[in-house]
Amino acid sequence: MNKNLEIPGADPFFYIDGETRVMLNHFEKISRRHPVNILVTGKQGCGKSSLVRQFAAVYKRPMATFQVGILAEPGQLFGEHILVDGETKYRPYLFSEAIQTPGCVIHLEEINRPEHPKALNMLFSLLSDDRSVWVDEMGLIKVADDVIIFATMNEGEEFVGTEMLDPALRDRFYTILMDYIPAEVEAEVLAQKTGVDQERVREIVNIINKMRGHADTPLDVSTRTSLMVAELVAAGTSIREAITYSLQVDREQLESILLTLHLEKGLYDASKTSKYMLFNDEI
Ligand SMILES: Nc1ncnc2c1ncn2[C@@H]1O[C@H](COP(=O)(O)OP(=O)(O)OP(=O)(O)O)[C@@H](O)[C@H]1O
Ligand SMILES: [Mg+2]
Repeated sequence: MNKNLEIPGADPFFYIDGETRVMLNHFEKISRRHPVNILVTGKQGCGKSSLVRQFAAVYKRPMATFQVGILAEPGQLFGEHILVDGETKYRPYLFSEAIQTPGCVIHLEEINRPEHPKALNMLFSLLSDDRSVWVDEMGLIKVADDVIIFATMNEGEEFVGTEMLDPALRDRFYTILMDYIPAEVEAEVLAQKTGVDQERVREIVNIINKMRGHADTPLDVSTRTSLMVAELVAAGTSIREAITYSLQVDREQLESILLTLHLEKGLYDASKTSKYMLFNDEI
């Protein structure tokens, strides 16, 4: 097997809400009977790519990721013409191999942003129930059994209306709408992934949540960014420094948030914890 088509390693600290976990299991089962496409949407850095990866890891499927965002023409994913000893030959790309690998998880990133809309044309036939596509250079390519196609896209409020996915394309997908993980789970993730102690991790999450919910200037702070903050704290910086260097934040805003937090220490929302679980092979 191509080394780019390996089963990814599982993230031992990846959390998912219980309902989505169960749905993913259903999708996996269905995929063994007929083609399944899953669209994962959510804000930047909320864990979309990680979810696809974890899915492949948990179900022991090889996986390959492709950037739809850079595609300028339809055939570009499949292969290219190269010159060998003065002769033109066609060299298939990893994508062609991946879709012909049984059980493979195909991850299409930024499916809503191809450079050219026509670039999606060939994907349409791949995503439909007959799962085959005509490539002039290779003939009819059939998608192998049990292949699951995931597509991910950023779909925060700021994207609605401008980057909407073609309805005919969206129609071919089951949809998972992801959100940032709740504060208590995020604290757990930060502690487990960076080794920062519970108290400081809670403080980090508290401050970040204040920023997210800030009345005047709410900030979209992703899980990725909060991990960057905790990583800096683990390396020895203060929380204030870590936040200042990880996100572009107005100093005054940071100060005022730190002040209110100081006043209401102990108020910590743990209400949503129970619904989240580790995404591993237990259900
Ligand atoms: N539920 C989660 N449990 C554990 N870690 C998480 C979770 N969600 C996100 N992360 C971590 O946050 C980081 C960002 O996640 P990821 O790259 O999957 O986000 P994304 O939604 O694909 O981002 P983008 O919109 O930029 O493509 C990763 O390091 C990931 O491990
Ligand atoms: Mg991603």
